[in-house]
Amino acid sequence: MPLSPRPRRLWRDVILFDGLQQLPEPMAVLVEGERIAGLWPEREFDQSLAAGAEQAGRGGVMTPGLVDCHTHLVYAGNRADEFERRLEGVSYAEIAKAGGGILSTVRATRAASADELIAASLPRLDALLVDGVTTVEIKSGYGLTLADELKMLRVARRLGELRPVRVTTTLLGAHALPPEYAGDADGYVRLVCEEMIPAAAAEGLADAVDVFCEGIGFSPAQCERIFQAAHKHGLAIKAHAEQLSNLGGSALAARYGALSADHIEYLDEAGVRAMAEAGTVAVLLPGAFHCLRETQLPPIALLRQYGVPMAVASDANPGTSPICMPSLLANLACTLFRLTPREALAGMTAHGARALGHPELGRIAVGAPADLCLWDIQHPAELAYAVQPGRLRQRIFAGAITHAR
Ligand code: NIG
Ligand code: FE
Repeated sequence: MPLSPRPRRLWRDVILFDGLQQLPEPMAVLVEGERIAGLWPEREFDQSLAAGAEQAGRGGVMTPGLVDCHTHLVYAGNRADEFERRLEGVSYAEIAKAGGGILSTVRATRAASADELIAASLPRLDALLVDGVTTVEIKSGYGLTLADELKMLRVARRLGELRPVRVTTTLLGAHALPPEYAGDADGYVRLVCEEMIPAAAAEGLADAVDVFCEGIGFSPAQCERIFQAAHKHGLAIKAHAEQLSNLGGSALAARYGALSADHIEYLDEAGVRAMAEAGTVAVLLPGAFHCLRETQLPPIALLRQYGVPMAVASDANPGTSPICMPSLLANLACTLFRLTPREALAGMTAHGARALGHPELGRIAVGAPADLCLWDIQHPAELAYAVQPGRLRQRIFAGAITHAR
């Protein structure tokens, strides 16, 4: 039986940001099936190059589909009460030490069924999608038992089947010490290493393993044991590090070949150097910085100097960053961290994809998967400049237009 021809779709005269930079002149873009099949400067384009293609759009700014490389999207309940207490002056760490914070979300998430978690998480995922996200990383970390961590990861995978989006999953068993292990952090780390990581790897439920390396989280020595277990089971490594203090977690993660070290407000030059040498991506999370009213800025100048790629992500979570709007985060990355709009956009496309170990995503290049956004703006910088939902004209996922107006 002859194969039915793959659909060919053509966009004409678009201003194109390819994931790293804006191309110098308007372009024509051909998509065939699920991939980008041709890119030409508009003034050189000839219809014979794209015979039989349907014209799907003209004008506007085209970017890769956005990559949100760090989220805690799956959880139950919310922490609006803590938001109010923090505004009154109680710190995030104080709330955590008193059994609130992450552990409060753990209680709600353990009590929720998988279906309830899906129902709670879909509106957050949809908010990302209407703002242009085509790839999202989702962490566990609010279960903290074998069964509840796997439940979260299954829900995350399921979300990727329910919506047109690529989901990568990360096991964050070492997010907080659950109450049943109080006084026995090493015992809990053993559970993470000997039960959670092997089970998640065996079921194919996790692409990576993450840790919270912090005074209120886990020590570098404990994180190292987790990295070793991740290696043993063939899972990639990521770390929440240097968010509230400098424990050297980023350099440790880099030594284990981590894909990324995330937050990194307290990262020092030795840590930056270690990340540069290992090719570890710096994931900046301006939403958490903003919501916690932090003042310690990540070492942006050093990251630039050493050529460490900077990703920008939402960190969407109920405690430190209840924000599911990538374009707002691009704006915050610029206003709070003084990234250029180009850096912020690269951080949400090419570098975000690299932080997930998927360098083929987040780029507009011939042969790359056709995950694209067409925006009703004049210049890519406007995405970070204005906080204005509704500018996404088309969202293209694996070559199919999944959102258009
Ligand atoms: O990325 N820092 C640790 N983890 C999350 C916060 C999780 C929470 O407070 O629920 C973060 O900021
Ligand atoms: Fe996080």
